[in-house]
Amino acid sequence: MKIALIEEKINAIKADCEIILVLKKELNHKWIKDKKTLEKTGFKAQSEESIFLAETNRVYSVIDSLQSDDIRNGIANAYKAIKKTKYKDIKIGLYLDSDKSARALVEGFLLGSYKFDKYKSKKENSSIENILISSESYNDENFDKKTVDTSIEIAKIISESTNSAKDIVNTTPYDMTPKKLATYAQNLAKEIDGLECFVGDEKFLQKERMGAFLAVSRASSEKPRLIHLSYKPKNAKKKFVFVGKGLTYDSGGLSLKPSDFMVTMKSDKSGASAVIHIIKAAALLKLPFEIHSIIGAAENMIGGDAYKPDDVLKARNGKSIEVRNTDAEGRLVLADCLDFAQDLKPDYLFDLATLTGACVVALGEYTSGVMGHNTHLKHSFVNWALKSGELVSTLPFNKYLKKLLKSSIADISNISSSKYGGAITAGLFLDNFIKDEYKDKWLHLDIAGPAFVEKDWGYNQCGASGAGVRMCVNFMINEDRK
Ligand code: BES
Ligand code: ZN
Ligand code: ZN
Repeated sequence: MKIALIEEKINAIKADCEIILVLKKELNHKWIKDKKTLEKTGFKAQSEESIFLAETNRVYSVIDSLQSDDIRNGIANAYKAIKKTKYKDIKIGLYLDSDKSARALVEGFLLGSYKFDKYKSKKENSSIENILISSESYNDENFDKKTVDTSIEIAKIISESTNSAKDIVNTTPYDMTPKKLATYAQNLAKEIDGLECFVGDEKFLQKERMGAFLAVSRASSEKPRLIHLSYKPKNAKKKFVFVGKGLTYDSGGLSLKPSDFMVTMKSDKSGASAVIHIIKAAALLKLPFEIHSIIGAAENMIGGDAYKPDDVLKARNGKSIEVRNTDAEGRLVLADCLDFAQDLKPDYLFDLATLTGACVVALGEYTSGVMGHNTHLKHSFVNWALKSGELVSTLPFNKYLKKLLKSSIADISNISSSKYGGAITAGLFLDNFIKDEYKDKWLHLDIAGPAFVEKDWGYNQCGASGAGVRMCVNFMINEDRK
């Protein structure tokens, strides 16, 4: 789907169909030309309502407000209404605050039209080829063409990276093993200017003394990989290091998951997929930051050589970990990867992981949890994350929950002794692997809820949502504008 800004009034643009956004209950702005017909059909301009009028080739889609996320949703609903038609060219005008609305319009089209049909024998392709955005604004506001063009470009890069992140997560565990994920990252580095990729195998992990990561991956015939993507532009302002949980499958290990909980665990590589596509987007946007993405890719399986509840592991930072549940494996892989990441001396250290079911219980399936010690950083991150269209909320650490990770035979236990507060105790487990000088630079993002939802929600489709990509890229974009 091609999207471009056309410097013409909307009526002067030739297209097969026009999309018109309607503010809730307000059936009167200059682009609403079918008011009588709409009233006849019973169209009430209520939240999320959309209607396609084939006689006039217009689609009306209702939005609650002119806020970016409402625009994204309105566009996605309009797209749904016409995706099965034979239309090729679609036109739309700009709405208030043109550069922001242009970004949201483009994101609405690109994110809302995503589909994953790799495994379908019959592909149903939409005939829509071009989105023509008129430079005319709904309230005749003037705007700077360059700013709008830049917004469109940013939106395209972010949305396409998010959609590629969804592809990786939706891919089956057989087709996306740690080795195949590493190959994907290597190919990306060949394709994109300035991206480099290093892949470490099991021997590398042994050399690095990553005892926790190695234990998790031991029972699988698919061997683990540490994937390190980097992007180092000249005169970089700051250094960002992203760490992603890359469990290409999480069966739970010997603490085996019940069948109902095991399905969808191909999505346990969502953190990995996010950090790969964050660095991809940043490189395409040519952001002036040195960026690293570190991925711990492994499969958590059962077998004669599986790691066991009761084992004590030695992490890269020297700490011993008592394993009490092999299904709390993500934190073990991350412990070693976070330690490795700090050798790179980051200014910002963010980990992204589908870490706990408890986070989904706490915040619901659409919201990611943000944890860390630096209150200012957490709040600034939440602000830019919400503006990107992703839902996030902070979860607070406290010293009482920290004590629940005590072990009688090792330095720390891999699970809490309480059944409550599991998202936070998982974050506090990771905190044990963050050195003092990086405590205030670190954020832990638990994306277990929104990374994979088995129903459509807003402009997201059933399956992967690419959680983490938009929030982190938006944070960096705004860090650059500071
Ligand atoms: N990958 C899961 C967490 C998860 C659950 C992600 C649901 C997405 C949806 C993780 O490895 C896990 O199994 N965590 C356990 C931790 C427990 C054993 C302390 C959990 O959440 O039950
Ligand atoms: Zn698990
Ligand atoms: Zn897991």
